[in-house]
Amino acid sequence: MNAPTIRQFEPMTNKAETDQCPYGPRYQVYWNMRYALFSRFDEAKVDAAGLYTMVPEKYALAMARRASGKRVLDICSGIGSISIAFARCGQQVTGVEIDENRVAMARHNARLYGVADKIDFLVADITSDMTLESLPADIDSVFLDPPWGKEPGDYQRRPVTRLQHLELAGMDLRTLVEKIDCHEVFIRLPPNFNLDIFRNVTGDKVAFTTKAGQTHWFFVRTTKQQFVDLPDG
Ligand SMILES: C[S@@+](CC[C@H](N)C(=O)[O-])C[C@H]1O[C@@H](n2cnc3c(N)ncnc32)[C@H](O)[C@@H]1O
Repeated sequence: MNAPTIRQFEPMTNKAETDQCPYGPRYQVYWNMRYALFSRFDEAKVDAAGLYTMVPEKYALAMARRASGKRVLDICSGIGSISIAFARCGQQVTGVEIDENRVAMARHNARLYGVADKIDFLVADITSDMTLESLPADIDSVFLDPPWGKEPGDYQRRPVTRLQHLELAGMDLRTLVEKIDCHEVFIRLPPNFNLDIFRNVTGDKVAFTTKAGQTHWFFVRTTKQQFVDLPDG
């Protein structure tokens, strides 16, 4: 497989790093980098899960700049970090998120960043027929950011994360993508993902690492057909 392009993290700490995290010690490391997650963190609405699952603003924007069209579907939009980044890059976005409290936070955050008019957030299970039928027909890019487990670090308890582990409501992501009228697919993957399944994919593969060389996540961009045709990990 062509190797991922390695992009390095700037150190994501700041002068507030000694502040105690209100969600408890297990989230302290994410709390320390909160202004890298959202530069306007103090005005944003973020929950504990948001702290450890959202994509830092700078990297979300770096991904969003790679989208080739004008209309994006953000699957598992959470508190909105990806949707907001795509909207800030001029895209019209539909965000789908099952948790209504998180959608309320995402709407607040989109207003904060001045892009509420560019994003339509839906409270829905993306795998339901009703949701799939209600999606726009002319989607250029799908962004997939499914949970990697139930708790922070769950994925680290598996030696390898495979595509099958990232299913949504029991639906394989390839089956889900096949049902969506779109051209390209972005996916965020954990550092222990079996990237070998992308060996025949020519699209972008980007790894974000710390200065110490530790990989945090991969982003991969494929065509719809390449994604649907991915082998089992
Ligand atoms: C990794 S987080 C996404 C983080 C998001 N990119 C952000 O910026 O906050 C995964 C999200 O998927 C949502 N989710 C899980 N199953 C879902 C489903 N079947 N349909 C829609 N959303 C789902 C969870 O509620 C959670 O917010």
